[in-house]
Amino acid sequence: MPHLLRIDASISPESRTRAIADAFEDAWRARGPEWTVHVRDVVADPLPHLTSTALHWPERLRGDMQAPADHEALQQRVLTEIEAADVLLVGVPMYNFSLPSQLKSWLDLVHVPGLTAPSDGNPQPFAGKTAVLVTARGAVYDEESLALLDHAIPPVRIVLERGLGMHVSTIATNRTIAAMKPEFDAELAQVELDAALAAAREHATAFTP
Ligand SMILES: Cc1cc2nc3c(=O)[nH]c(=O)nc-3n(C[C@H](O)[C@H](O)[C@H](O)COP(=O)(O)O)c2cc1C
Repeated sequence: MPHLLRIDASISPESRTRAIADAFEDAWRARGPEWTVHVRDVVADPLPHLTSTALHWPERLRGDMQAPADHEALQQRVLTEIEAADVLLVGVPMYNFSLPSQLKSWLDLVHVPGLTAPSDGNPQPFAGKTAVLVTARGAVYDEESLALLDHAIPPVRIVLERGLGMHVSTIATNRTIAAMKPEFDAELAQVELDAALAAAREHATAFTP
C-alpha cells in the first residue's frame, strides 16, 4: 500500500505550503483507496524541544546519558511514522530566513546518528525513500541570494538526504506577501503558485512505489 506521510508546519490560515501539500495529497488519494495518508501537524500538535542529548543517540552510544521516557516514546512514534511511509511531504515555510521552530523539533527527533543516520557503520534504515519539500517565501530571491539567505530548506535537505539517505526534491513558491507589498507583483506570485500546485500534483501522480 503506497503511504504518504505529510508534515505541516505553517502557522498561517492562508498557508501556501499547506495549499500545495493539499494539492499533492488530493492527487495522491485520487490514485485509489490503497493510497493512504498520515498527517503530522507540528503546529496543531507541537513536539517538545529536546531536553536531553540522549535523544540524539541510540541506546548503545548513550553512555550515562538518560532519555526521558515520554519523549523517547514520542521519538519512536515519529520514527515509526517515517518507517511506514513511502513518501514524505514536508511543508517548510520560511520564517526569518529559517525553518519554523516546530519543524526543527521534528527534525531534532529524526536525525539520530547511529540509528537513522550513519555513525559507526550502521545502515540507513530510511534510505531510498522519497521526500518532497514544499517551501514558501514572502519575498523575492534570485538564485545567488537564495544560496546565502535560505536557511529553511538546507537543514531539512541535509538531514533527510545526506543523513537519512532519502531522494529529496523541492517545490518552491515566492512573493507570497505580494498582497501586502505590491512591488512583489501579485500576478507573478500567482504564476509561481500555480506552477507549484501543478508540480505537486505531478509528483503525486508520477510516484512509482
Ligand atoms: C514569523 C514569520 C517570519 C517570516 N520571515 C520571512 C523571511 O525571512 N523571508 C521571507 O521571504 N518571508 C518571510 N516570511 C513570509 C513567509 O515566508 C510567507 O508568508 C510564506 O508564505 C510562509 O509559508 P506559508 O504560506 O505556508 O505560511 C515570514 C513570515 C512569518 C509569519
